[in-house]
Amino acid sequence: MPGSRILRTLERLLRALACAGAILAGAGAAQAASLEGVLSPGDLIQGHAKAESDCNNCHLPFQKTGQDELCVKCHKEVGRDVAQNGGFHGRIKDRGTCRTCHTDHKGRAAKVVVLDEAKFDHAQTNFALKDSHGKVECAKCHLPKAKFRDAQKRCVDCHKKDDDDPKKKGHHGALGEKCEECHTIKKWMDTFFDHDKTKFPLRNSHADAKVKCDGCHANNHFKNTPLACVGCHKKDDEDP
Ligand code: HEC
Ligand code: HEC
Ligand code: HEC
Ligand code: HEC
Ligand code: HEC
Ligand code: HEC
Ligand code: HEC
Ligand code: HEC
Repeated sequence: MPGSRILRTLERLLRALACAGAILAGAGAAQAASLEGVLSPGDLIQGHAKAESDCNNCHLPFQKTGQDELCVKCHKEVGRDVAQNGGFHGRIKDRGTCRTCHTDHKGRAAKVVVLDEAKFDHAQTNFALKDSHGKVECAKCHLPKAKFRDAQKRCVDCHKKDDDDPKKKGHHGALGEKCEECHTIKKWMDTFFDHDKTKFPLRNSHADAKVKCDGCHANNHFKNTPLACVGCHKKDDEDP
């Protein structure tokens, strides 16, 4: 090896040592960060490209613990789930740390989220899949590219089309948006509306299963249904 190269190598080593010495002596975080800059193991994912210029976004200088608090500074919804034991992240048992499941520095296109759809247990979310929802494909409720957490939640958000479907005996909006107050998720005809909550409890002949809703609420008219007998039975009084 030529002497000049040995010298240059030595010089570099000394500079590195001096730098490390300054850090040990309590030099500022700026120097520490620049040393880490040399040490980056590789590009971050596309979503983290903007965060890459400041390693401190995800690393406490020379510390391996405490990273999760930095992650949830940006990922507030995940942080909230963990704090409240909600959503998917809040239900993970033996959570470990974020990096247990999400690696990084493997390039812009690396997949850092691994989810096996076939094995996923949906009971680990805010929305257990029961009855008719049990065998539905993921894509029917989760749009491509959208975050899983952003699935619609209210019955009406996903089932407005059924209410409006001319082939079904829905209500075309006449019964409002709270489908869950009358419907189970088994099938649409499985209903449990408690008519006693209105000013007109259904008793005796009115409670007869043969008397359909539209006997009194023709054409989906629910507001201002007559309460007085005569309002509906005038025809019986006049029946020849
Ligand atoms: C968006 C978050 C994020 C940013 C910003 C980030 N890193 Fe990382 N870094 C990680 C994660 C996550 C790991 C753990 C990867 C693993 O274990 O598979 C890691 C691991 C490392 C490691 C391996 C040692 C260790 O802590 O496990 C080094 C070294 C490192 N990063 C350096 C850097 C440098 C230098 C920068 C700035 C140029 C930087 N990182 C910016 C998230 C980040
Ligand atoms: C400075 C803000 C910031 C910090 C800190 C940060 N992230 Fe991110 N992260 C983002 C942004 C922005 C995206 C892209 C948009 C999105 O998915 O929310 C993202 C995306 C992600 C994704 C989704 C990637 C995908 O393919 O869908 C994961 C997982 C993730 N971050 C994990 C982490 C972890 C783990 C840490 C801590 C080591 C971390 N993030 C720290 C801003 C941040
Ligand atoms: C046991 C593995 C595991 C751990 C631990 C874990 N995640 Fe995740 N993470 C996942 C899986 C699986 C998904 C995809 C399902 C989903 O979107 O909920 C995901 C999705 C994400 C996403 C993208 C979806 C979104 O809601 O923004 C972000 C960001 C994220 N994780 C951040 C974090 C952070 C921050 C931590 C640490 C507090 C963490 N994760 C801990 C497995 C994990
Ligand atoms: C009938 C509709 C429906 C089907 C089918 C469905 N999901 Fe969901 N999923 C939801 C709803 C609603 C949420 C709750 C979103 C929230 O937290 O408010 C959810 C939540 C999730 C979450 C957790 C998001 C988080 O961060 O908390 C994951 C992961 C998920 N679903 C994955 C899947 C996968 C994989 C499949 C297919 C095997 C699937 N889902 C099928 C409606 C559905
Ligand atoms: C995230 C979307 C989503 C939400 C929220 C949701 N559903 Fe569903 N539901 C579906 C999908 C998708 C199906 C599969 C059949 C279809 O495509 O309509 C389904 C099926 C059904 C069925 C069976 C329909 C049939 O023809 O057999 C009923 C009943 C039902 N849901 C009721 C409800 C009720 C009640 C709620 C609220 C408590 C609700 N759903 C919330 C998406 C959703
Ligand atoms: C006040 C109670 C109530 C509310 C609120 C309600 N429904 Fe109904 N719905 C019923 C009853 C009762 C039936 C059965 C009608 C019959 O016997 O003619 C029904 C029937 C239906 C049917 C017809 C089923 C078939 O097979 O023809 C559909 C579809 C339906 N409802 C969808 C919805 C949707 C979607 C919502 C929310 C946007 C909703 N309903 C809100 C009580 C209600
Ligand atoms: C025998 C007649 C009769 C039958 C059958 C009947 N209703 Fe009613 N319903 C009434 C009357 C009368 C009122 C008005 C009560 C009031 O003003 O509070 C009413 C009120 C209602 C209301 C409240 C409307 C509002 O916004 O003020 C709803 C919802 C309703 N009925 C749904 C149903 C459904 C669903 C069925 C079938 C399962 C049904 N009804 C069957 C007579 C009937
Ligand atoms: C909102 C409309 C409505 C109101 C108000 C109403 N009914 Fe009825 N009633 C019906 C309907 C619909 C039937 C089913 C048989 C029919 O079509 O006549 C029925 C059936 C009956 C029957 C059985 C008739 C038979 O032939 O089997 C009697 C009795 C009756 N009602 C008495 C009353 C009395 C008494 C009142 C006042 C306290 C009253 N109804 C208020 C709509 C109404």
